[in-house]
Amino acid sequence: MELERHRYRYYALSDPEISDDEFDALLRELEELEAAHPELDSPGSPTRKVGAPPDPAFRTVEHRQPMLSLDNAFEPTEIDAWCERVRKGLEEARPRFTCELKIDGVACSLSYVDGHLEQALTRGDGRVGEEITAQVRTIDAVPDWLALDDPPALLEVRGEIYYPTTEFEAMNAARAEAGEPRFANPRNAASGALRQKDPRVTASRPLSMICHGMGANEGLEVSSHGEFLALLSRAGLPVAEETRTADAVEEVHAFIGHWGEHRHAPPFEIDGVVVKVDDYRHQRRLGYTARAPRWAIAYKYPPEERETHLRDIEVNVGRTGKVTPFAVLEPVLVAGSTISLATLHNEDQARLKDVRPGDTVTVRKAGDVIPEVVGYVRGKRPPEVEARGPWEMPTTCPFCGSAITRLDGEAASYCPNLDCPNRLLESLAHFASRGAMDIEGLGYETAKLLLAEGLVADLADIYSLDREALLALEGFGPKKVDNLLSGIEASKSQPLERLLVGLNIRHVGGTVARMLARHFGDLEKLRGASEDTVAAVPGVGPVIAQAVAAFFANPRNAASVDKLLEAGVRTDTDTVERSDVLEGFTVVLTGGLEGFTRDEAKQAIEDRGGRVASSVSGKTSVVVVGDDPGTKADRAAELGVPTVDEAGFAHLLETGEMA
Ligand code: IVH
Repeated sequence: MELERHRYRYYALSDPEISDDEFDALLRELEELEAAHPELDSPGSPTRKVGAPPDPAFRTVEHRQPMLSLDNAFEPTEIDAWCERVRKGLEEARPRFTCELKIDGVACSLSYVDGHLEQALTRGDGRVGEEITAQVRTIDAVPDWLALDDPPALLEVRGEIYYPTTEFEAMNAARAEAGEPRFANPRNAASGALRQKDPRVTASRPLSMICHGMGANEGLEVSSHGEFLALLSRAGLPVAEETRTADAVEEVHAFIGHWGEHRHAPPFEIDGVVVKVDDYRHQRRLGYTARAPRWAIAYKYPPEERETHLRDIEVNVGRTGKVTPFAVLEPVLVAGSTISLATLHNEDQARLKDVRPGDTVTVRKAGDVIPEVVGYVRGKRPPEVEARGPWEMPTTCPFCGSAITRLDGEAASYCPNLDCPNRLLESLAHFASRGAMDIEGLGYETAKLLLAEGLVADLADIYSLDREALLALEGFGPKKVDNLLSGIEASKSQPLERLLVGLNIRHVGGTVARMLARHFGDLEKLRGASEDTVAAVPGVGPVIAQAVAAFFANPRNAASVDKLLEAGVRTDTDTVERSDVLEGFTVVLTGGLEGFTRDEAKQAIEDRGGRVASSVSGKTSVVVVGDDPGTKADRAAELGVPTVDEAGFAHLLETGEMA
């Protein structure tokens, strides 16, 4: 079920595919369905669950008291309705409320026994959590001892561990600089830091915590949530300074409104506000549903959107000629980063949104990272923009003037000109990139310069670059030139699959290139193969075969390939053991292996006729479990899929048998 998959990606893998808002919308839809059709409701429904199953890499411990979730409100009227239900349930005209920020962090339960921190657990599935005591002890904000003269025998405190936003931005910028993938948001970064088996790694991250709730306790005398928070503060535990009490629903709305306007003022990310009934007697009277307390509600803020001016819609031409429209925006700050460009994907998407240059548009960060234009603001379209009519895809390429074409049934448009300067630039940069010919010193800027100076007009021209001509370029000293030339020379010995990736054939990325290289062994054989023969290669199929055939049939490409051959690029691939011991095997990899990188392991499996899948299912033949495995190992155990360790993997590669 879709919701289950998203829950799993979010909670267990710290790697969500959809935004929190999209998830909430799906959950809500299911809740409404279940309400309308009680016969569909089941105890295992995602609407009754919190969190995800615990990670087997950590010791699991049952919570003394389950860690529940909260019911959500998305409209102010839902807060009014909740307040009304509370009043009715209590037969009390004016119960007091506590208003808190809803911190977008990782839920954690701390157990203090006689004032000493004994255990820290993640939420896990709400009933059983993972033990992360050693990791949490490294967090400065979490005291080892409570600063109380007479601490209770047991005090369980719940709260959120978070990655402070400023530090998060800096860390992500550094990762991007180093070519490492960025974390989608601070919560994922916090979750990743806590999932480090080695607490020293956790200690190197600037995590912090805010406490907001009570779990099991013995010997604690407090009669309201406000009193409890005050006690935590006296005990030296971190609590949010923004918390306020409210005696009327209007004050609750004012709190929600204020923090909606100042969402980025706190040092942590917030995704809403939590309103709680303050008095513990009241809380007890209201009680719980299966999933959440009746005495609290979370008001969720909508995804962050900003309005800005759409200066223009331009198109880019990619390395395969694909034409992509994008919005050029008046720079605007959305959720902590400045957005000035946003893709519009393709002609249909752009037309559907009906955004036009001159419009005021709403932009948001989809899934927290990719900027997206939501649409135009209806009341703010100037008459002349209205009169101009819908935006139209240019009929000619802005870089070379060729007629842009769009094939029937396809969403993408193309510039068919192989000599289109922008297409050449993108192609050359891609040819030299790490996944292709891996030419050190030939990045995007150098590619641009070589093309602009007329030193290169075709990919193959880089192999006949003149040293003197390069030396004449601005900023190119002898050392830089020699490095570039030796990088180019070295690339000639890249195996066929890298060359195929570099040729910029539509649909041919690393995996397809490897399959083709392995099957045909040599460029000439692939080039001479019929479309049907290519389509028959396992994992290839007719669409790719058509693209490959069309590529080689084009005289311009054929000439370029000939030139590459003349230059002496390698056309065969490393001799692999052409055993087919893993034919029909579907293998899933999890955790690190000492003798292989992830790519090498993948290649070794594919070289033997096997297939690598990213998730474990009933169709998986075997799961290779390395160091620090993820939840895939657990999933394998659940489904009864066999697992092997690194030694078993080596044996498997050799014999096709599981030891
Ligand atoms: S009170 C019985 N207060 O949001 C549950 N939760 O979406 C009581 N959260 O499970 C939770 N800030 O992990 C509470 N100020 C706050 C919170 C907060 C963040 C988390 C918490 C909860 C989740 C529900």
